[in-house]
Amino acid sequence: MLQKKKSRDSWGSRLGIIMAVAGSAIGLGNFLRFPAKAASNGGGAFMIPYFISFLLLGLPLMWIEWTLGRYGGGFEHGTAPGIFHSLWRKNRFIKYFGVIGIFGPLVIFIYYSYIESWTLAYSVFSLLGKYRGITDQATMQSFLGAFQGLEQNQYFSSIKPAYFFFLVTFILNITVIYYGIKGGIERLCKFALPLLLFFGVILLLRVCTLGAPDLAKPDWNVANGFGFLWNPDFSALKSARVWLEAAGQIFFTLSVGIGVILTYASYLSKADDVVLSGLTASSTNEFSEVILGASIIIPAAFVFFGPQQIQSIAKSGVFNLGFVTMPLIMNHLPFSVVFGFLWFFLLFLAGVTSSVSLAQPAVAFLEDEFDITRKRAVTIFGIVAFVLCQPAIFLLGRGVVDELDFWGGTFFLVIFATIETILFAWVFGMEEAWEEIHKGAQLRVPGIYKFIIKYVTPVFLFFILGMWFWQEWLPIIFLKNVPEANRPYVLATRIGLIVIFLVLAVLVKIAWRRKRSASGNTHERGKHVQV
Ligand code: ALA
Repeated sequence: MLQKKKSRDSWGSRLGIIMAVAGSAIGLGNFLRFPAKAASNGGGAFMIPYFISFLLLGLPLMWIEWTLGRYGGGFEHGTAPGIFHSLWRKNRFIKYFGVIGIFGPLVIFIYYSYIESWTLAYSVFSLLGKYRGITDQATMQSFLGAFQGLEQNQYFSSIKPAYFFFLVTFILNITVIYYGIKGGIERLCKFALPLLLFFGVILLLRVCTLGAPDLAKPDWNVANGFGFLWNPDFSALKSARVWLEAAGQIFFTLSVGIGVILTYASYLSKADDVVLSGLTASSTNEFSEVILGASIIIPAAFVFFGPQQIQSIAKSGVFNLGFVTMPLIMNHLPFSVVFGFLWFFLLFLAGVTSSVSLAQPAVAFLEDEFDITRKRAVTIFGIVAFVLCQPAIFLLGRGVVDELDFWGGTFFLVIFATIETILFAWVFGMEEAWEEIHKGAQLRVPGIYKFIIKYVTPVFLFFILGMWFWQEWLPIIFLKNVPEANRPYVLATRIGLIVIFLVLAVLVKIAWRRKRSASGNTHERGKHVQV
């Protein structure tokens, strides 16, 4: 007998969903990845491609995903396989393209939750004064390395402390999603988001009053630190790499092209506005990225290390500015314990509001397509994700995280965004799509975006993909840039990713087969169920 379908979860308030989407967007990407990308690409050289990518890719995709998510939710689908299938019922294969929308967030979650746990650990270390006496870059680097289990020294002799903080962070994430959309995610974001913005403003004000701490180098002052980021450099517009990096950052920071906004928006009702809400969530993210994220770390690093070294630090690794340079800077300030804590706890709050959103698509997929309870879905997700996190923890030094970040956090984002845009503008059709966007809307999207979504965004996406294939395809496939010793691990990670993808695709097949047979049975009894 066909069971009665349970009702889907929903948001408690409009503010709640905006906070949750902004919370998903505002994350480690804003405070760690963005400053590192901007600084390593020469500051002002990065900002023009960045803003153009925001207007032509980020914002349109935000609206596309809010709209598609709400549309799919109307058919009780909260993830891309079901949403794509609802859009293009005649195509039997489109649901398999939707697998990327579960695969991507799951893969990002695997390493993101571990990095997030470092921020919790460093918050505690700040309060305990554990790195307080360190005053040089090399020692701070080896403090981080020992914490990550990459070396042993007087600070850490094993990876156990890192593992402990990982467990705390992981359990916290699972607990939040266990309590559901309204009871868990919305409640967390309503408290964490204002708090992190408040911490961000305090740190920003502190940075603005740094002046020029080194009297021998008066040019290394805060004003020039801001100038480093905001003085435009038009020559960089000719560099394909800067464009790719800027576009990639826009995807990562706004959480578009991942699949999480589709899922969050699927819990909206038909009459809920998506235009203003999408715009508000994007603007809040951009405020926290370019005003807070960049204005804390970049000027602070500039006044202590100067324009040359800040670029080389940023180029030496995405975590170095956040976990090495920032604690060193804090150690130069009065009340270093407090400022260190504010910085790392801000990162932790930003991280946790994003990681819960990365977990939700897989959970929603199990709930919606297999009709199981949330608690069961969260338990299955928890066990699987826990196992998958282990290589990221224990093989960090072997290039596993970089590999996961490349496929899950970069490459598939662009592929997925391209599929979504084509489906929305060309399969669903721009007239219908425009009408769908504006259902319940309190604001109209400027008419130019009809043209942008239909032509400019897809062309831009194809251009990015084309450039990537042209410049990077062969070296990446043949592991040219991976050190010899790491190749077996990177290859194993790649095989693992293919297996995860195939398992998800098989689950989609099973889910649809079950639904078809259930709808067939119902049909025989004279009813019709839309799958
Ligand atoms: N959007 C999230 C971040 O920026 C994933 O960290």
